[in-house]
Amino acid sequence: MNQNNDVVQEIKSKNDIVDVVSEYLPLEQRGRNFLGVCPFHNDNHPSMSVSREKQIFNCFACGTKGNVFNFVMKKENITFKEALAKLAKRVGINYQYSKNQEVSEQHQELFDAYKLASKYYQNNLASSIAVKAKQYLHDRKINDDLMKEFEVGLSLGTKDDLTTLLTNKNYNLTTLNQLGLSNGEHDAFINRIVFPLYDIQGRIVGFSGRIYEKSNLNKYLNTKETPIFKKGMTIYHYHVAKEEARVKNSIIVMEGFMDVIRASSIGYRNTVALMGTAMTSEQANLLKRLSNNIILCFDGDNAGCKATLANGNQLEELGLAPKVIALPKEDDPDTFILTYGKERFDALVDNAIYFSDYKLDLLKQGVDFQSDLEKTSYIHQMLLELSKIKDEIRCEIILKRLAKECDIGYNTLDKRLQEMKKQEGKRNSIDFSLASNSSNAKNKIEKNKFQKAMQNMINYMLVDEKAIQLYEEEKQVFPDEDYRILAEEIAYYYHMHGKISVSDFYTYALENEKLQKTLDLAVDDVIMELVTKQGIIDCLKVIQEYRLNQEIKRLTSKMEKEVDPLEQAKIAKEIIELRNKER
Ligand code: CTP
Ligand code: MN
Repeated sequence: MNQNNDVVQEIKSKNDIVDVVSEYLPLEQRGRNFLGVCPFHNDNHPSMSVSREKQIFNCFACGTKGNVFNFVMKKENITFKEALAKLAKRVGINYQYSKNQEVSEQHQELFDAYKLASKYYQNNLASSIAVKAKQYLHDRKINDDLMKEFEVGLSLGTKDDLTTLLTNKNYNLTTLNQLGLSNGEHDAFINRIVFPLYDIQGRIVGFSGRIYEKSNLNKYLNTKETPIFKKGMTIYHYHVAKEEARVKNSIIVMEGFMDVIRASSIGYRNTVALMGTAMTSEQANLLKRLSNNIILCFDGDNAGCKATLANGNQLEELGLAPKVIALPKEDDPDTFILTYGKERFDALVDNAIYFSDYKLDLLKQGVDFQSDLEKTSYIHQMLLELSKIKDEIRCEIILKRLAKECDIGYNTLDKRLQEMKKQEGKRNSIDFSLASNSSNAKNKIEKNKFQKAMQNMINYMLVDEKAIQLYEEEKQVFPDEDYRILAEEIAYYYHMHGKISVSDFYTYALENEKLQKTLDLAVDDVIMELVTKQGIIDCLKVIQEYRLNQEIKRLTSKMEKEVDPLEQAKIAKEIIELRNKER
């Protein structure tokens, strides 16, 4: 722990929360806790409880909660730094504090570990052990310059070289496991070609390892989320593309980092990769910062088409008009460039079409214009899309084309479109209130039960290390992303400090607004109660059951849509296996 943390800890421990809060409002002892009238909402009844034991406060009525820092910050409307100074003065501690410094010191150790690991992997690839791996890379037309540019490396087939190297540099195993570099006492990446993953500033925050010999293992193995690696906020190659986007006046978004590496090799460095995940709003905003001209260039297969639709819509929501490059079905950018070369790719970039046109083209695909039924359905879907387009001129152009195409009077179509536009407006305004009522009751109860279980689990983890250990043993991943990140952060905190305290975790969360929000949502009165192992296990069971059910639902609907009977049978088998697990 660094010096700053020690001071924060000292200030906190000398400022007992009950004493501090008492200076603002009268508190009365009730059992183990103290009660007072909450100053954060309008009320005469005592709804705020303060725990000396846990060093936190919690208002049952308005939900405001936290430790002594949160209380003073909120009450005085001051920053963390100011609250620290105030509380330091209150107990006669003299100190200077810089929060940024603390954060970077705390994380520097982690960045350094990845840097060392990357050097080690790159050395392996340069050594004589790497004959087969190099052959693989050369076969894929990745030459030595590209390997250098993208800092490609190799993890060995032996079991603990990197772990030994880093423990000799005084990293403890717990940290290495948290960083995803080690797995227990062994290296996490075994016999894989290793690509560093970078944060938007270009620092290494993880790795992706690819198999290069015949193997049943997953093609890629990726570092899990850590305090410095948040997948939803990471974009591969962003730090380079950032500069290039200005020169080229555009940014090209691809699926995989192999695609980015290939594009780079023919001079497109204004490229980034989402690494196979759906674009989050954070990522969309990061891209928006680089250029108004965003070009989506995903794989030509069905999945790529789906990704184009989802991500294009995401960008449109930010008011952008993205473009699309549609590749042949069997290609991704990597294989396309390898097969057809730079000039053909240049042409694709120059002729990228607007995403809104891409969507309309998709609707047309496979429509049999001889069939009245298909034609009607096509017209209906087109009008639905058109009703969302705000640009009236564009609308009219497309509508004229549609009228000609389907041999229908323009006025007929336009009348229908205007009606739909009205309805669209109405629907948008009532959708919210309907949404919660329309889901069926059983689903809702199930969901509530599951939400409660996740919440309880978080609460248990915050007061009892048993819960953290069980969470990790069970390799239980919360299906809810916010809760999952919170749980991971709690586990991380526990490993870094060797203990857990809800009050201290509140200090830790001060760095991170989103985390703090989730924490506020999750924490409830359970923390005042005793935790039993059975209670924790019950929670985990509910979460697991819910996850299985969701997965079964997903597969069932996939099966219903599948046309190939062989594929259908495969999915059915998967469902049966999951059902068996349920028991
Ligand atoms: N991905 C992953 N795990 C997998 C498959 C894919 O994490 N099992 C991620 C990787 O980040 C990858 C991206 O999804 O870069 C795109 O996947 P895919 O198109 O399958 O990868 P390619 O770039 O085609 O990789 P390769 O050419 O090496 O097969
Ligand atoms: Mn590929």
